This record gives sequence, structure tokens and C-alpha cells, in this order.
Amino acid sequence: MSDTDAITIMKQEVGRAAAQRVQSNTIVGLGTGSTTAYAIQFIGARLKSGELQNIKGIPTSFQARVLAKKYGIPLTTLDEVDHIDIAIDGADEVDPQKNLIKGGGAAHTQEKIVDSLAAQFIVVVDSGKLVDSLGSTFLLPVEVLPMAVTPVMKAIEALGGKPELRMGVKKAGPVVTDQGNLVVDVKFDRIENPGELEKTLNNLPGVLENGLFVNVADVILVGEVIEGQPTV
Ligand code: 5RP
Repeated sequence: MSDTDAITIMKQEVGRAAAQRVQSNTIVGLGTGSTTAYAIQFIGARLKSGELQNIKGIPTSFQARVLAKKYGIPLTTLDEVDHIDIAIDGADEVDPQKNLIKGGGAAHTQEKIVDSLAAQFIVVVDSGKLVDSLGSTFLLPVEVLPMAVTPVMKAIEALGGKPELRMGVKKAGPVVTDQGNLVVDVKFDRIENPGELEKTLNNLPGVLENGLFVNVADVILVGEVIEGQPTV
């Protein structure tokens, strides 16, 4: 088995393990990203087989909505329900306190709304996402209204961060979020207090949301490839 195949199977197995935790008659937050995509696929398969009944999904992005439709998961909205039982979502970094950096797919704003509302939030990652300290391997995504990008980047520099505007494939133009905004990715030498930084960034006029998820995750499901074999 090639390394790429092993990683794909490992992501599938983590997605399957999360999908197994979904119970009938529940509202399910559907996250974004390549690992969560497998969870959505397996929830759909369980519905189709009749093993799971009466599920309603709340997507966290256009991508999650498309996948949910593809795999036959009925959708609802936050206007229609008064709770979310479980949410499944990926992450870009996870620290020992289960705090996260998310937003590699530019979907962290809707993800934070849905994941925070869930009674149980399950994170699906591979072991390469586990870090001692947030910000050590991944830049912190910040969603910004287009007209505020320049002042927000200056304000982030004043906070000690190194911001860069996220560009799309072939750098033809900036990445645009589902809300029509831009993403600034920020390198901080050290994020000592994620909770404080999360609030400080969100207080900058023009910032919609940043990718720090502090005290939101309940369960981390970790996949690993050991000696070429995928495990969860
Ligand atoms: C999207 C996210 C994703 O969940 C995160 O980037 C992980 O994705 P993947 O499972 O593809 O590694 O936060 O905004």
C-alpha cells in the first residue's frame, strides 16, 4: 500500500468511527474538509441501509451542503431547530487541551457557530495535527470583510503577527469565503493564551471570525498510519 493510499484509508476510518457515533432522531452538525467528507459519506450510507433513521444535518459550508445532498442526508437550518446533538468536524491543529486551529478550508466562521452549539463536538484528525502549542505548524486563519483587509492586517502586525492574504489556486485572486469575505492567514511566533488571542482578534473592526476554537471540542478521534497500516 502506498503512503497516499494509507492516508486516504486512515481518513476514511476516522470518518467512519465518527459517523458510527451518530444516533437516530438527532440533529447533526456537518463539518468541512477531506476527513469530515468521509464522515458525511458514512452517515449517508447508514441512513440508506436503514441502520440510522430520522437524521437532520446542519452544514457548515457550501461544500458540506453539497456532500450532504449527494449522500442523501436531509438538511435543516438553525432557524428550524433549538439544539444540535452532535457535530463532526476536522481541524488543522489540536493542542493537549483540545483547543484547535481551524479554517484551512476557509469555513471556520460557520464551523464555529455549528460546532459550538453542539452538545457533543467530535473532531476528526490524523496524528500529524497534534501539536504541543497552537500555531506551531499552521497559520491562524482570520476572516475579514474585504474593505477592512488593509487596516486589519496593520492591526494584526501591531499585535506581533505576520499576516498574509490567502490566495487561491495559481494565485489568480484571493480566496473568497462562503460569506463573500477574504481570509488573512497569520503567523504568530507563539500563541501563549489562545482564549485571549481569539477575543482580541475578533474585537478588531472588520474581523468576522478567527480559527481559534477554545474549549469547544469534546472528543478527538485521531487516525494514524503505523508501519504502513491505517489505524484509529
Ligand atoms: C475547514 C477546516 C477543516 O476542517 C480543516 O482544514 C481540516 O481539513 P482536512 O480534514 O481536509 O485536513 O477547518 O475550514
